[in-house]
Order: sequence, then C-alpha cells, then structure tokens
Amino acid sequence: MSETTEGPLPKRSTNDTGKHRDASASGATPEIGQDIEVEVGPIAAGGGCVGRAPDGRVMFVRHSLPGERVLARVTGETRSFLRADAIEVLEASPDRVDPPCMHAGPGQCGGCDFQHVAPAAQRRLKADLLAEQLQRLAGVDYRVEVEEVPGDPRGLAWRTRVAFAVDEDGVVGLRRHRSHDVIPVARCPIAIDAVNDSGVTNARWPGVRQVEVVASSATEVPVVVVDTGTGRPRDLPEVATGIMWRGRTLQAPSHVTFDVLGHRFTVRAGGFWQVHPEAGRVLSEAVLEGLAPQPGERACDLYAGAGLFSAALARAVGPTGAVVAVERSGSAVADLEVNVADFEAELEIIRADIRPDVVARRIGRPDVVVLDPARAGAGIDVMTALVGLDPPPRAVAYVSCEPAPFARDLRVALDAGWSLASLRAFDLFPMTEHVEMVAILQPPG
Ligand SMILES: C[S@@+](CC[C@H](N)C(=O)[O-])C[C@H]1O[C@@H](n2cnc3c(N)ncnc32)[C@H](O)[C@@H]1O
Repeated sequence: MSETTEGPLPKRSTNDTGKHRDASASGATPEIGQDIEVEVGPIAAGGGCVGRAPDGRVMFVRHSLPGERVLARVTGETRSFLRADAIEVLEASPDRVDPPCMHAGPGQCGGCDFQHVAPAAQRRLKADLLAEQLQRLAGVDYRVEVEEVPGDPRGLAWRTRVAFAVDEDGVVGLRRHRSHDVIPVARCPIAIDAVNDSGVTNARWPGVRQVEVVASSATEVPVVVVDTGTGRPRDLPEVATGIMWRGRTLQAPSHVTFDVLGHRFTVRAGGFWQVHPEAGRVLSEAVLEGLAPQPGERACDLYAGAGLFSAALARAVGPTGAVVAVERSGSAVADLEVNVADFEAELEIIRADIRPDVVARRIGRPDVVVLDPARAGAGIDVMTALVGLDPPPRAVAYVSCEPAPFARDLRVALDAGWSLASLRAFDLFPMTEHVEMVAILQPPG
C-alpha cells in the first residue's frame, strides 16, 4: 500500500529545487513506491491521466489533470502499464481545486476520482472520455457536452445511496483506493443529508461487512441494507432506520419512495434505482423527447427495474397503447407491478433473463424500445436480436452509465445500418469519472 498523504496535494513552483525528483535514468524500471516526475496527458478510463514511465510503459496517474507536471508515486504495475498517484503538483492545471472532501487524495478513499477538479472541468473530462471510447470502440467521431443537472453546484450532496464498508471492530467507513482497508468516515460529502444524518455511520455494526444506506429525502425514513457475508446479523445497533438483510425486513420500513414527473415510485431498499435525486426526471424526459412515443403505440422497456421508464411510456402511449416490460429480478418485478398499476395502457410484465430469443419472440413488434442494461451493457447477441427485429422499432433509446460497453453495442447497431440520431450525456455522478448517456438509434431508411 502506498504512503498516505492527507489534504490538498502540495504544490510547488517550477523554480523549486527537485529534492523529490526521481534520479532513475531513462529506461530504468520503476519500482512500487518510487517517485517519478512526469508530465501527464489526456484522461483515461479509470480516472487517471496518461503519462510515460522511464522504461516506456504507460503510467496512469490518479489525482492529476491533463497537462500537469507532477511527482507521481508508483502504486502498482502490470506488464504493460503502471498505476501511480500524483503526490505533489509541480505545475498545476487551472482546473485544479482543493478537494472539498477530507478523505480524498492519494492513498485515501477510493470512492471519488475528481475531487481535485473544478466541476465544469469534470464534465469536460467526462466528455473527453466518452468521445475517446466512441471513437475507439464504435468507430464514430461524436462529441457531446456533458450536461450539468440541478443540484449542489460543487458536485456534493447528491448520492441517495451509499454502501459503507465496516471494519472488524464494527466501525463504519469507506474503502481505501484498491485496498480492503476501511477509513472511518462520519459523513460522505457527496451523499445527501438524509444518508449522512441517518445515524448509521456513528453506530457500531459488529459482525457486519457492509451497510448500504438508501434514502430518498429528509422527510422519509432511510433503510439500511446489511451484508454480513455469511450468518444472520447479531447485536445490531439501535438506529431509526429500516433494516434489511438478504431481502428480509429485520426492521421496517423496507422500501423508499421517489417522486418522478408527478408519479410516486416505491422501491425496495437494495433494489436498483437511479442514485442522483434528479436522475429519474432527467432520464425520463430525455427518453420521451428522443422516442416521442405516440398514443396507441406499443412500447417496450427492456431491463425495466422498478419501472421508471415503463411508467413514462405507459403515460405517453395512453389507454389505447401498450407497454411490455422485461426484467429478471423478482423483487424488482414486484415493485414494477405496483409502480405501473395505475396506468390505463395495456401492460405486460415479463420476468425473464433478456437473451436474444426473448427479444426476438416475446416482446412482439414494438414501435419504440428503451433499453437500460446493467453496467456490462446489453451485449452483442442481444443487440443483434434487437436491431434484427422485423419490422424494426421506429426508434430505440439506449440508456447507459458505461461508455465502453455502450460503444461496443452501438457498433452492432451501426453495422446493421442503424444510425445514431442523437446522444445526450448527463453529469449524474459528480466527483466521479462516471456519466449517464441516452442515445437514440434509428433503423435504416
Ligand atoms: C441499470 S438497471 C435499470 C433499471 C430501470 N430501467 C431504472 O432506470 O430504474 C438494470 C436492470 O436490469 C436488470 N437486469 C440486468 N441484467 C438483466 C438481464 N440479463 N435480463 C433481465 N434483466 C436484467 C437488473 O435487475 C436491473 O433492474
């Protein structure tokens, strides 16, 4: 593990003597823990900037910014690249700021990538990353602005869900970057107050390895999802929250609610729901704008979760329209059934693992499709089945939080003659390298 440096990174003018400068000659093989002076270039997936080590290997330097000259401490290596942390800034980027979180920095919490970056510059870096992945994996030159969403302009107080780690003594914290160490943390500045004020981080959780706090607002009771690894939790602390363990309610409530575009959704804690408080609205609006579902149409919601997009589609297609939602998680389907119960559109909920045959044979012939797969993307086979529907949907909205699998899946559509009609990207994960995208795909002709 690398030595810990707390607080903002020390900055040094270029006229300072190079007392930390690594003396290794060009070509020497760097060792873990060695400090190397380096000028870094573009941002890379993973949140570090690309530099070059003396032996020619690529070096991914976290806590740096494009164009900066930093002293980088080597923290890990593979045959082809090195990992490093910028432990001192020799020439700072104008986009650098002091991290608002005391737990951010080299050797510290692994949760955030961009605490040292001004919010507007974070969005530019994410746009760079997205453009690079689209070019490399989908073969398209397409650059979008990453759109700011309403919230704290510093990029704080947005997480409605935080999975805190717990150490052997039951103390709550967050994991050190690329480590099992738990750094005790009382408050996470990117979490909403309802998470930080839940009392969960101040309590002791003996025998527990993770407590995930799920909260929707200051007025609703949060729920803690407890992970013990193996046995039933014992000696749980007294907390004024719901407590869930392996899908069982140990202490009510077990669900949280979220209001999106005038509709109330109920979601079991531990089930999937978008993390940013504005995400449901922003993504629903982008999907509706891109697909423009019409009254009477048939819409399909693949990877439907608790029904965020099913509800938006059901409202849009109205009483003469139909929505078919496909989801494999039983508890998500239970929430989905409740969340779409009040709409007049014909609703069909299919609990299934989405595979090519499900797309080809069970969803009928939809006019519009939303697909919002997990981080790994839909995959080449499912995409091939989707763009091979005959007749094809008139539009598909692909919602993704991971540029690389999205770009791979986009390539399948483009190769089948489909076009990328529009792409929007939203900063729904401030302080991290992550970005959420809504792409609208249209069939040939
Ligand atoms: C990113 S979430 C999206 C949920 C929903 N669209 C939303 O925004 O709240 C992905 C969902 O896909 C489901 N899922 C993942 N892989 C699946 C598969 N192969 N077949 C069916 N559902 C799947 C997960 O259970 C999860 O509910």
